[in-house]
Amino acid sequence: MSEDKRKYTMDSHFQEIIKEQMIPDADEVGKTPEGKATSNKVEDVRFDITPEELIDYLNSYVVEQSRTVEIVATKICTHFHRMNLERENTQLKRILGDVKSNMLLIGPTGVGKTYLIKLMADKLHVPFVKGDATKFSETGYVGGDVEDLVRELVYQVDGNIKLAECGIIYIDEIDKTASSGSWYGPDVSRSGVQRNLLKLMEETEVDMKVPHDLASQMEAVIETQRTGKAVRKKINTKNILFVMSGAFTGLPEIISKRLKRGGMGFTGVKMTSTEDVEDLLAKMHAQDLIDYGFESEFVGRVPVVTYLNNLDENGLYQILSSPNSAVIQGKKRDFIAYGIKLTFDDEVLHLFASEAHKLSIGARGLVSIVEKHLMPFERSLPSTDIKKLHISLELLNDPETFLDELIQKHTFESFATNFTKQTGIKLEFSSGAIKAAVSIASEKGIKLKGFLQESLADYEYGLKLVDKTRFTITSKVITDPKAYLNSLVKKSYKGKDG
Ligand SMILES: Nc1ncnc2c1ncn2[C@@H]1O[C@H](COP(=O)(O)OP(=O)(O)OP(=O)(O)O)[C@@H](O)[C@H]1O
Ligand SMILES: [Mg+2]
Repeated sequence: MSEDKRKYTMDSHFQEIIKEQMIPDADEVGKTPEGKATSNKVEDVRFDITPEELIDYLNSYVVEQSRTVEIVATKICTHFHRMNLERENTQLKRILGDVKSNMLLIGPTGVGKTYLIKLMADKLHVPFVKGDATKFSETGYVGGDVEDLVRELVYQVDGNIKLAECGIIYIDEIDKTASSGSWYGPDVSRSGVQRNLLKLMEETEVDMKVPHDLASQMEAVIETQRTGKAVRKKINTKNILFVMSGAFTGLPEIISKRLKRGGMGFTGVKMTSTEDVEDLLAKMHAQDLIDYGFESEFVGRVPVVTYLNNLDENGLYQILSSPNSAVIQGKKRDFIAYGIKLTFDDEVLHLFASEAHKLSIGARGLVSIVEKHLMPFERSLPSTDIKKLHISLELLNDPETFLDELIQKHTFESFATNFTKQTGIKLEFSSGAIKAAVSIASEKGIKLKGFLQESLADYEYGLKLVDKTRFTITSKVITDPKAYLNSLVKKSYKGKDG
């Protein structure tokens, strides 16, 4: 790192940008929306938040999913308040057969399923783990089993079992565990994973010691030697919330078929638009999930079922323009890492949204589109002195030319500023000088900055000698700087003599 740059990273400009980028607000300090809870204490879990507060918080991040946000936030709040009540009133009689609010989120890729639950876990300071249903095997010997997720919760909070017991376990691609009897379901029956989940979703004790894991066995032996007694560490899953998600391709058709059978006026199985699909999902019954290939016991343990809408172009635009947008803020941070402040024209955000919409992968498309457009700048700017970049449509139309011009303009400007700083003489470049310098530097195959420094090296001293307070570099200066300066000095002395 050059001396200049090192100095730059410490200066106030940089600090200012960093401060601007600090999201979210003060009470969030110490963690990011995507990060895990920083706390390791049960007392820090937010049992006091109301559904409306949580909904407001989520709505400041999650776009166009207000119905799901409301349902999920309300049920999660109630779950934790209920837990709180039972924790504080230990003599409270247990209600047998009580079902907790495990959830199923249905929706295509990139619409905010994982994001929503992560945000929630983060806000409530509860531990959160995410697993993929396709990674588990029925026996648990290949690729691990679902109980590993429960143990993972404990590892997340450095062994605090009490805290892990109020965590959230998120299982993605649950639709892939539907049995092959389903219309669209996978060929291999994976319903064994469903059955393994049943116990956990209700209430069971999971041993921290894994029978087939040597490390955990040894840990238990060491613990026994240390304490003199065999401690059996177990996690109770009664209050662990299970949230499952999946795309559930083919489910709308199943609903449509049922409605047709029931004479509800739906005539065709073929879906023509997103609205049709969303209309159908709104009419979903438990039976449809059973027909899809889920066991009724499983469906019975997931009382909260909701679906997330596809994001339209406007939704994608809103995500980009939100001050909490992970995509734009993330990109800004990439540039800040080089000390460059990035700003965007609104039109550019519309362009990104429209291009991302065509990819049909929801908000996931935004990242690739933003990356694609900003790549040339991310590559070139860090090796220049440019500290600010405003992204406009014009710039995106021809980034290479624009970049060249921008870098050139900046090189001349910063040369002149430095010159004034060193000498007190105001320096300007004529348009002819700019053209000449650019063409000579490129002919010689050297960097413009280096060319200016080399050819105008004597001017700091020379111009002072001739008592100039301002000076315009013309094309004549550029083509033969030494000769020009000599004649200038000669002229000045002649003037003084005479
Ligand atoms: N509705 C939304 N509002 C704001 N940001 C969103 C929304 N949906 C997605 N995003 C952004 O896109 C990223 C990816 O979304 P997310 O991980 O939630 O997708 P998903 O629905 O879980 O999809 P998948 O089925 O592929 O896992 C999020 O981290 C977030 O930055
Ligand atoms: Mg996801």
